[in-house]
Amino acid sequence: MRGNADMREMNVAVMVSGGGTNLQALLDAAADGRLQHARIALVLSSQEDAYAIERSRRAGVPVIVVSKQTHPDDEERADAILAALAGAETDLVVTAGYMSILAKNVCSHYAGRMINIHPSLLPKYGGVGFYGLRVHEAVLAAGEKETGATVHYVDDQGVDSGAIILQGRSPILEGDTPETLQKRILAEVEHPLIVEGTNLVIQKLRDKDFS
Ligand code: GAR
Repeated sequence: MRGNADMREMNVAVMVSGGGTNLQALLDAAADGRLQHARIALVLSSQEDAYAIERSRRAGVPVIVVSKQTHPDDEERADAILAALAGAETDLVVTAGYMSILAKNVCSHYAGRMINIHPSLLPKYGGVGFYGLRVHEAVLAAGEKETGATVHYVDDQGVDSGAIILQGRSPILEGDTPETLQKRILAEVEHPLIVEGTNLVIQKLRDKDFS
């Protein structure tokens, strides 16, 4: 019995909206074996023109677009997301640059099995209105000396409110702009952190399977 469970790969679904460099970090890790006991089974995009879709196609990963255009009704959109995730037999959802706020029923369905990466040291600079470049603009405007990124569970209580899993830090350098900061945090902090965080939660889910 246990032998079979040991062999099982977890199905990871990655939710994206834009460039997808965090998705790429996961695809690269899956390709060279750093993502352990898991495969990227599905990419779900909230935007039909996201460059992340091209990255998925190149890696041979199926893509489903569920957007405000394909599903204007909020409830139907949430149902379509749940159906897409179920269709891929998703064990773990990773939201990586997903710029839409997920419906509560989607978050609660995947409680403990859905993680997000956010480009700040949460709880600072998180919540509604803090996303993408805006986070780095706010960090610089506040005169912070360091910043970073956080991998955390997604819960149904609020935006960026779930338990923190991992954080990575980086100093703010003289002359940093929101763009240089974003680029550096992505490359030096987020990309390794999302792989580490995903591996950690997969390991937790496997441990649970065996207990
Ligand atoms: C990343 O910095 C990610 O942490 C952030 O958007 C960027 C997406 O980049 N996410 C949020 O701000 C969510 N609140 P990517 O598409 O290249 O991975």
